[in-house]
Amino acid sequence: MSKIGIFFGSSSGTTEDIAGRVAGLFGVSSSDVHNVADANAADMANYDVLLLGSSTWGMGDLQDDWVDFLPEAAKQDLNGKKVAFFGCGDSSSYSDTYCDSLATIKEELAGTGCTFIGKVPAEGHNFDETRCQEGDELIGALLDEVNESGETDERLEIWADAVKKAL
Ligand SMILES: Cc1cc2nc3c(=O)[nH]c(=O)nc-3n(C[C@H](O)[C@H](O)[C@H](O)COP(=O)(O)O)c2cc1C
Repeated sequence: MSKIGIFFGSSSGTTEDIAGRVAGLFGVSSSDVHNVADANAADMANYDVLLLGSSTWGMGDLQDDWVDFLPEAAKQDLNGKKVAFFGCGDSSSYSDTYCDSLATIKEELAGTGCTFIGKVPAEGHNFDETRCQEGDELIGALLDEVNESGETDERLEIWADAVKKAL
């Protein structure tokens, strides 16, 4: 069975809360849920599947703790590992840079040998632009706890199903 690890960054606790909900959906124990603020990127080697979560700040910028963690993550050999994304943003106030940090993480990890999984249909989301859109799909679970928290459960389930199908 694949071992799943969750790595998240969160400035005001929203993505941290979602990471806990993601752990529940996948049956991941709390010891395998890592806040990148104090995680070691080398620990990614312990997992077959990495569920990576970040909020987006500034104008499409990485969450602060990912700024230090991501260059270290990008140096790891993630060959054979499957990577999926979840993230929190604000599709109303930041509708042109919605959840863009996830696209940055994906770009930076592209050279590590990992396989990206867990795309979902973009349909039903309300934003003007995101770098997370590829054709009709989004690269992961894009969640808006500020304006659309009522959609989160369904969005997480659709994403979790897509991830599980790819395992
Ligand atoms: C100053 C500021 C800048 C933000 N910039 C963006 C942005 O560019 N894109 C986006 O989708 N959300 C943006 N957000 C919304 C946050 O990502 C959102 O509130 C998120 O839930 C925070 O999650 P966290 O508590 O896990 O950090 C911004 C929020 C603030 C206050």
